[in-house]
Amino acid sequence: MISAKRNAHCGRLTVEDAGKKVVLCGWVSKRRDHGGLIFVDLRDRSGIVQVVADPETSGADFKVAEDIRNEYVVKVSGTIRLRDEATINPNLATGRIEVVADGIDVLNPAKTPPFYIQDDIDTDENLRLKYRYLDLRRPEMQRNLILRHKVTKLMRDYFDSRDFIEIETPMLCKSTPEGARDYLVPSRVNPGKFYALPQSPQIFKQILMVAGMERYFQIARCFRDEDLRADRQPEFTQLDIEMSFVEVDDILEMMEGLMQHIFKGALDRDIPAPFYRMTWDDAMNNYGSDKPDLRFEMPLFDATEVVKGSNFKVFNTVIENGGVVKGLVVKGYSAIPRRELDGLVEFVGIYGAKGLAWIQIQPDGSVKSPIAKFFSEEQMAKIVATAKAENNDLILMVADKWATTVQALGALRIEMAKRRNLIDLDKLAFLWVVDFPMFEYSEEDKRWVAMHHPFTMPREEDLDKLLTDPGKVYAKAYDMVLNGTEIGGGSIRIHRRDIQKKIFAAIGLTEEEAEQKFGFMMGAFEYGAPPHGGLAFGLDRLIMIMAKRDSIRDVIAFPKTQSASCLMTQAPDTVDDKQLRELHIRTRLLNKKE
Ligand code: AMO
Ligand code: AMP
Repeated sequence: MISAKRNAHCGRLTVEDAGKKVVLCGWVSKRRDHGGLIFVDLRDRSGIVQVVADPETSGADFKVAEDIRNEYVVKVSGTIRLRDEATINPNLATGRIEVVADGIDVLNPAKTPPFYIQDDIDTDENLRLKYRYLDLRRPEMQRNLILRHKVTKLMRDYFDSRDFIEIETPMLCKSTPEGARDYLVPSRVNPGKFYALPQSPQIFKQILMVAGMERYFQIARCFRDEDLRADRQPEFTQLDIEMSFVEVDDILEMMEGLMQHIFKGALDRDIPAPFYRMTWDDAMNNYGSDKPDLRFEMPLFDATEVVKGSNFKVFNTVIENGGVVKGLVVKGYSAIPRRELDGLVEFVGIYGAKGLAWIQIQPDGSVKSPIAKFFSEEQMAKIVATAKAENNDLILMVADKWATTVQALGALRIEMAKRRNLIDLDKLAFLWVVDFPMFEYSEEDKRWVAMHHPFTMPREEDLDKLLTDPGKVYAKAYDMVLNGTEIGGGSIRIHRRDIQKKIFAAIGLTEEEAEQKFGFMMGAFEYGAPPHGGLAFGLDRLIMIMAKRDSIRDVIAFPKTQSASCLMTQAPDTVDDKQLRELHIRTRLLNKKE
């Protein structure tokens, strides 16, 4: 038995420590038996170091070394020794040294894990999620969580030093109008009534401004019952912020400073500020997205005017019906194979585009295109000039309703950039998208709905259009976009009751409904609400990008699957009848069984 306490960490040992006696604790990452010698890669959170056991130095504990297996928890005492030149491992941070063991204790044996505890494993994610404690033992997962910890610490420091205070808001709430479905919690003591888990702390943080807190932030858990994707979880974390007596620019500048602070502190990256500010209209028209990825160019061009008056009926009909003809240029890809072109037609079809036209500009400048026959040479030259295309380039065009066209081309732009390897994965392309429309029309509900949320302040110059022309009202709302992902969004809020009333009317809420849903808030606003605004960042998404991962599940310790379940604990699960009875609940599924 080793009586001394642990006094060192595997990954932190260096050549400077040669000659020192250490006691280490950790997990057996690998064990190699070389007959007379046994090598053990010992792993703790700090990294890996090689331990050498031989019968001479390790004495009776050599037998222990013979019996240990991967993932056994062990304690090792020994002396640090420089490795021979020939045995240096350049792939290991501690590869120039090793620990010559004089004692080895097994603290706990382990079953053989279902997958290797190492980086870059090719294992089904469901298996990783079921054995999350083993998955999190892998160095890359530990790095992700350590990065997450560092970033939240940097965030707290940043806001603390700027007079913000962190305030917790409730988890058991009344439903907030954030647009997604709520997770409901039944109340035992109020039969038939339900709390909603917060989709965001929106209402509370605004009320904190009425309460005179002036600068608030919170690292807040939020819950949304949405369809899940790689960058969406049913419960996720926001860095939530609200400030009083500010305008848009004050908030944007404060958040640019935050990004500089965390990227410098966590990744030693210098982020230039101010960030590019692009209006929503420009983002949609030029990049086909409200979260354009600016790591590469490939802007959309508009050919509606130049194709007018051709013999191509498809384009003419679209234009007559108020649609547009737009396109993009894939540089140097005129030699695209025909079957890939056919695939692209299907690709834009997913986004509702009824067709895709292409123009291949040959090395000699001549064009090859199924629509060439409908255009004079002069018209074709005009299209090519509008597209700013050159020899060897490929032009892809869609004609449809504006929304369909930009959406399809926006998706095509990303797809072609991926296929052509145009995305520099080391780049950090930040921008603000500003001046969002206040409302969008919901075909499903047949009414206008708030694009951000109904507490967003419209631009002053648009106030008179609130009830007459809601589609033309722009809002003081902004999103921060990084590498084509929306990492945060917010707005200046309405602090005047008369404007708030008009917004509710515009989205079709009657006065009674507005009173029932937000009466308490409107009431609070009558007691001296300061002008205020804020935003919230998706912490998981931000860390995902910082850690260069493709899924937010890789930066959340215990995430849910696409079907919102936890494979480790089996949540959600059925509950006792007794629990249901106490909650005054009876499920329809149970009724069927009965
Ligand atoms: P919003 O709904 O835009 O704004 O959310 C803010 C940010 O949270 C992240 N996010 C998500 N991340 C993971 N999984 C999800 N399901 C998910 N949903 C959103 C995104 C997003 O930019 N109360 C307002 C903010 C405000 O106005 O201050 C709000 O919640 O990165
Ligand atoms: P057609 O003469 O109908 O075969 O069409 C000629 C080309 O125009 C084909 O390559 C079609 O894919 C393309 N096309 C058809 N409809 C559209 C559209 N709405 N937008 C862009 N291209 C289209």
